[in-house]
Amino acid sequence: MKASVIGRMLTITFHGHACFTLEANGHRLVLDPFLTGNPAADIPVDRLAKVDAVLLSHGHGDHLGDAIPIATRDGATIVATAELAKFCGQRGATTHAMHIGGAHQFPFGRVKLVPAFHGGQVEGDESGRFTTNPCGIVVTVAGKTVYHCGDTALTLEMQLLADQVDAMLVPIGDNYTMGIADAVRAVEFVKPRTVIPMHYNTWDVIKADPEEFARGVGARAQVVVLRPGQAHTLA
Ligand code: NI
Ligand code: MN
Repeated sequence: MKASVIGRMLTITFHGHACFTLEANGHRLVLDPFLTGNPAADIPVDRLAKVDAVLLSHGHGDHLGDAIPIATRDGATIVATAELAKFCGQRGATTHAMHIGGAHQFPFGRVKLVPAFHGGQVEGDESGRFTTNPCGIVVTVAGKTVYHCGDTALTLEMQLLADQVDAMLVPIGDNYTMGIADAVRAVEFVKPRTVIPMHYNTWDVIKADPEEFARGVGARAQVVVLRPGQAHTLA
């Protein structure tokens, strides 16, 4: 295979709940690394391969998760909204603070933070000083753009991403986030090539059938249902 072809491939691996790793061009990123205490996780945190960066959608425990220990172990940078980055930085992690609407070019690719409608408390912040706006993460690596919605309601802001996304990682579990019907509308708004459901079946309260979601999306996008530990490559 020619190097130019390899350079255009991006592998997305699901680790349960809202945790994914992205691998391309010798770089590895982890998004929302909730492994310890995650009943759906396929691996314990000590089996997560070394990452370059940890990208966080928000500070809830099921997203912040193992971010700080992973970042300190691997010398990886935590990329998050400024308040959450500050919280992680004060606990020993290398961080890069950003905020919603802003993008930054990193060695591994480009990250833009986009709106998400959700709660902003940071797990472990007894002071309340680090409460922040949750976000969605738009990350472009190897010419492929992945949109991790984070925990969010359906929002019209998603329409701003129309036709810019190769793979959309969308919550379908309801209760805390969009359920299936709203997630299908989110796919209509964003028009991704591929959509991967997340944030469901971790606990009973977010029980959802990914095949029902796939039927709802129909021909609007390729729906890839990943079990924890499974991967999908965008070529
Ligand atoms: Ni949350
Ligand atoms: Mn969550």
